[in-house]
Amino acid sequence: MKMAGSAFRNFQRAAAIGQRLQPMVSLDPELRLQWSQAVWIDRVSKLGQYATGPSKWSKLKLDDPKTIERLERKERGFDKHILPVIMPHLSPQSSMLVVGFGPGRRLAHYLQATKGKCYGIDFLDEMVGFAHQRLTSEGWGRVTEQFVFGIATDLNANHAKGSKNMVTWERLGNHLVDDEDWLKGLDEAVSILRPDGKFFLAESVSDLNPGRQMNPGSKFRPFSDYITTLHSRGVSLLSAKETRFAGDGYILAVFGKTASGC
Ligand SMILES: C[S@@+](CC[C@H](N)C(=O)[O-])C[C@H]1O[C@@H](n2cnc3c(N)ncnc32)[C@H](O)[C@@H]1O
Repeated sequence: MKMAGSAFRNFQRAAAIGQRLQPMVSLDPELRLQWSQAVWIDRVSKLGQYATGPSKWSKLKLDDPKTIERLERKERGFDKHILPVIMPHLSPQSSMLVVGFGPGRRLAHYLQATKGKCYGIDFLDEMVGFAHQRLTSEGWGRVTEQFVFGIATDLNANHAKGSKNMVTWERLGNHLVDDEDWLKGLDEAVSILRPDGKFFLAESVSDLNPGRQMNPGSKFRPFSDYITTLHSRGVSLLSAKETRFAGDGYILAVFGKTASGC
């Protein structure tokens, strides 16, 4: 079976990301196709986990409009949790970077608040295309080039260190399954922040979801992992709110880089 163009590009990129993926390259082409069509192929660092068999995620196809509709319906509900927490921290003077923007639901709000100085990366071509379509339909077609393919563990490829007032991780952290990737991602996010910049986290954390099992491509972490890791990098917790969405407990937290931080 032939792999769709964008799925194949994703696979190539995933395969290029590290030595750890070498075992995958030699796998049966049919299984590889299923993997590369998985909606959340973002767990590039852990693709090996699927070697035990195709997961339910591999059945979801981004080129199926029903998948998009379903994701969209779910997404809509999330806006009203996130926006009241993040918006007060944005102003026309702010610039921000959204890491893993996905379908881009809230980007128009961020662009409006920052007078167009919102940027983003996501490593799924489908998401980039989808967000571009959305932005165009929402009247922000002129800034679609600000939302591009990029990898959370290599933000400096697209953005200068110390260049943004705000960096956001909205339901991204659990997809950085490898602790090494997760730490690298946080390091990159911190490095992009200006000396007084803020980091916004929206994540379902293990403390708020006792007993919940994640699919094999995600990893639950306790909120304290974020607090201690960021604190050791000169980024401290300013505020946090617990909320529930689609049956999961989420933390919505704002962290601030201190002038003395690394
Ligand atoms: C659960 S979705 C969340 C999307 C969006 N932030 C939201 O809250 O609606 C996770 C997104 O992060 C992207 N992603 C995951 N890991 C990534 C990585 N290592 N680099 C860049 N994007 C990544 C995925 O492609 C996906 O679009």
